[in-house]
Amino acid sequence: MSDETSARIPSVFDQFSLAGRHALVTGASRGLGRVIALALADAGADVALVARAADQLAQVAEEVRTRGRQAITVTADLTNLDELGRAVDQVYEAFGKVDVLVSNAGISPIWKRSTEVTEDEWDAIMTTNVKATFFLCTNVAARMAEQGGGSIITLASVASVVGTPRMAVYGASKAAVAQLTRTFALEWARHHIRVNAIAPGYIATDMTAGVLEHPFFGNAIRQATPLGRPGQPDEIAGIALYLASDASSFATGQLFLVDGGIAAE
Ligand SMILES: NC(=O)c1ccc[n+]([C@@H]2O[C@H](COP(=O)([O-])OP(=O)(O)OC[C@H]3O[C@@H](n4cnc5c(N)ncnc54)[C@H](OP(=O)(O)O)[C@@H]3O)[C@@H](O)[C@H]2O)c1
Repeated sequence: MSDETSARIPSVFDQFSLAGRHALVTGASRGLGRVIALALADAGADVALVARAADQLAQVAEEVRTRGRQAITVTADLTNLDELGRAVDQVYEAFGKVDVLVSNAGISPIWKRSTEVTEDEWDAIMTTNVKATFFLCTNVAARMAEQGGGSIITLASVASVVGTPRMAVYGASKAAVAQLTRTFALEWARHHIRVNAIAPGYIATDMTAGVLEHPFFGNAIRQATPLGRPGQPDEIAGIALYLASDASSFATGQLFLVDGGIAAE
């Protein structure tokens, strides 16, 4: 190997550093958003935490600060575009820039046959998971373009790529997130903005507690997951750090499945 080639290769651990970076994580009050925010802080990022529950955000902010990083909390209902815009403004006022956006807030409030889904249920899922994701990413990307680039991470799902009975609307919303991710990546590559999606399988959070604890459906999910169990939230931390950091500097427009093997079948 020539000196020139070896000189270009930093330590792989350096590639994962987020020292000096600023991250904005939505849905950071609990679940995957909390774990992702703490992982980014562990790697050196200051973190803006956005969700509706002020008390829970304050607790996560304390956890960020115990890692020696700055944290700010912004309460906002992201389905309201005025609140979404104000939240992003507040983060920029505090941090001046956002290097990493994790568009994680999402809902999956129903588990029912498609023939029983109501219009209100459709609207709630699509508004939170698709509309808010779209306008959050476009708002931040416009500013990232001015600052010279960044990394955007969306939360898709294994339900983006496999049919999931009783989750038709959620699956459609997450398929939309996957497609937004690909299109954003193509539109914004020239601004040095990378856009990738994490697609988890079943992870034990508030979102999945009901179905994982259900005697029939919980067992069916374990059987449908080759690794035989739901994932734990911290099993999403590594992929989030990879995508946030320079370790993934040549990856964009991709869906990263972390699903215990479901989509391999
Ligand atoms: N858990 C899984 O198995 C799984 C699998 C695949 C994909 N995902 C995706 O991963 C993401 C996180 O899921 P999770 O399991 O961590 O869910 P969770 O525990 O239910 O947490 C959802 C987060 O989103 C926030 N949120 C929801 N609606 C919001 C709104 N209108 N405005 C602002 N914040 C809102 C919640 O905060 P507040 O209630 O405080 O607002 C909370 O912090 C979601 O996009 C989900 O679809 C999860």
